[in-house]
Amino acid sequence: MADVIGAEHGVTADDLAEIMPRIINAHDQLQKWRSSKDAIFFDYPFEAGLAASLRKAGGEVQGSFENLVVLGIGGSALGLRCIAGALLPPHANVMDRERRGNIPRLFVCDNIDPDSFGTLLEFINFKETCFNVISKSGTTTETMAQLFLVLPILKMRLGKSWKDHIYVTTDPENGPLRRFAVLEGLKSFDIPPKLGGRYSVLSAVGLFPAACLGIDIEGILDGARAMAKRCLTIDLETNPAYRNIAVHEILYSKKGKSISVMMPYADRLSLFAEWYIQLIAESLGKSGSGQTPLKAVGATDQHSQVQLYMDGANDKIITFLGVEQFEKGTYITQVMDSFDHLKGHQLVDILNASLRATASAMSHAHRPNIKITLKKVTPQAMGELFMLYEIQSALTGALRHINPFDQPGVELGKKLTKKILSENK
Ligand code: PA5
Repeated sequence: MADVIGAEHGVTADDLAEIMPRIINAHDQLQKWRSSKDAIFFDYPFEAGLAASLRKAGGEVQGSFENLVVLGIGGSALGLRCIAGALLPPHANVMDRERRGNIPRLFVCDNIDPDSFGTLLEFINFKETCFNVISKSGTTTETMAQLFLVLPILKMRLGKSWKDHIYVTTDPENGPLRRFAVLEGLKSFDIPPKLGGRYSVLSAVGLFPAACLGIDIEGILDGARAMAKRCLTIDLETNPAYRNIAVHEILYSKKGKSISVMMPYADRLSLFAEWYIQLIAESLGKSGSGQTPLKAVGATDQHSQVQLYMDGANDKIITFLGVEQFEKGTYITQVMDSFDHLKGHQLVDILNASLRATASAMSHAHRPNIKITLKKVTPQAMGELFMLYEIQSALTGALRHINPFDQPGVELGKKLTKKILSENK
């Protein structure tokens, strides 16, 4: 705020008053989008029975398979990556089954790099593996190419039982992947027709694989619902999404902050920054405008990017995402002479002191920064964060009179890829 970092770079009370009519109009637009189901992400977590069916199917996979391989890209992968990074034990894939909580190992294949995907196909035991192919459109080149590589091997190794090893998540009616699932009688989940990829983490897209991994998906939905309810009013004091939006918009449109950095101080939240980047970039990078979202992780990037953020162009707003309680107590009891300040501390003390120090230094340097603190990284907290930023993305679109649910900028590239591949057999 301006009283801390000055009015040139900070938000004033007048700025907030000035933006209110735009927020009110955008709020009305969001309610219209909820009615037309364009903003179905807001209401979908309230759908009765959503978690129960996913939990049941997920429980079967958890008990039967050693590996869960997810084929999907963009919004069909990043939400799950983020949930897994936040809520599974770190390094779970290299632990034995008991140590990792009796869950399958997870491989999210969101690229068509021949070496990484080819290597996975070579080493994985197909008899112990469940594949979840996720594509809203059912037409995405990368995902379908992966599926076309997996299917012949599955059929060859497993014969008729190949169908027990594959779950499809796609549009309920349309697209080649839905037609394939119906034709083959495969187990499948629906993605509601108007729920776009980057807003779909709180549907079967993110929650079915999460359930296969024993993650508390009810908790995630509880958090999302609680946040949605908090974001129903137009009051900037009580609606955290709208407050964050107002601050971002003022800093973007009036104070030249064209870059938005998401900087979690917890490895578990590192992939949240990647999910955030996609949401903001693909939803709001339109018509020649849009803040550029970036990822940094504390404390790691204090030794990399922070020099630029402190001392480079003052064109950024930084969101520090802090965590109060970590699972592990990691006390330092023995130190060398000049490190007495570390003695008796846990790593969490050092990490959070670094966060406070960096935020404070930024403020001294008139660099706008926001701090969001989670008590712990829990399913509820993740649900709250997802919903907070999905609302932020949608409402910012309304504020700027752009459609936050489409992605026309990536369509041409898709068409050209198809053309190049057709012409160069
Ligand atoms: O957010 C989006 O809409 C995109 O990132 C999609 O998720 C991505 O292109 C994959 O699309 P699909 O789920 O149709 O395969």
